[in-house]
Amino acid sequence: MKKVTLVYFSPTGNTQKSLEAMAQRLGGFSEAVDLTRDWSPVRRFGKDDIVILGAPVYGGRIPAVARERLAGLRGEGTSCVVVVTYGNRHYDDALLELADTAKAQGFDVVGAAALVGRHTFGEIQTDRPDERDLAADGEFVVRALSRGENAPDVAVPGNRPYRDGGNGGKFRPLTSDACVRCGLCVKSCPVGAIADDCVTIADTCLSCFRCIRRCPKGAKNMNTEAYRSFAEAFTEKLKVRRENEYYC
Ligand SMILES: Cc1cc2nc3c(=O)[nH]c(=O)nc-3n(C[C@H](O)[C@H](O)[C@H](O)COP(=O)(O)O)c2cc1C
Repeated sequence: MKKVTLVYFSPTGNTQKSLEAMAQRLGGFSEAVDLTRDWSPVRRFGKDDIVILGAPVYGGRIPAVARERLAGLRGEGTSCVVVVTYGNRHYDDALLELADTAKAQGFDVVGAAALVGRHTFGEIQTDRPDERDLAADGEFVVRALSRGENAPDVAVPGNRPYRDGGNGGKFRPLTSDACVRCGLCVKSCPVGAIADDCVTIADTCLSCFRCIRRCPKGAKNMNTEAYRSFAEAFTEKLKVRRENEYYC
């Protein structure tokens, strides 16, 4: 029985959820390497491993920080399924970039999926991934892993050179008077962009909104007029449901 390892960068949890659904369909996983929390993991995988590798799409690319944190992972012809999740706009070159990265590090990419999840900004596809998505993710991973040894390379959509992107957004979460300085946001920020007084450090922030989603007091927020009007227009623009794409 092969050992399943999940590797993900997932500030708001969509990617993690889809990878866990895939693992569940395979009977579970033995380790989760969470790049959101572990900045420089080192692992070697062999032929008896299966790695499911996931990241969100930031500006049509995988987040640069996620790519950097993958550097210490090496496969040796290890079967790997790559997954990007995106907020219903598009994934552009992110899936190709993740597949290329995995191959360059010794993995055999047997499947690639571009999945829709709730967008970080606005109110877009807020219930996704939903049950239908997660069931399809599970079916896909089984298909991908049952490809024959000599199957042709998986054709992954995207362009090289990749478009510019992957650097995070321009929104900087605010901290309201409701903040009790519990420090949860400080600990959970994937890039250490929140100072001890729970105030966001503008330079380093990715706009991933993990702090907003996790703050137990609702103190982290993006309550500005500029954000609200952007979010409203963006939500309207991306209201038509896109479907997941699976390649193997
Ligand atoms: C800075 C930033 C850039 C994003 N860029 C895109 C994009 O180009 N296309 C898209 O459809 N969604 C985009 N999104 C939405 C995320 O890709 C989506 O919500 C993703 O599922 C989040 O994954 P996570 O929950 O695992 O963190 C972006 C989100 C952020 C924070």
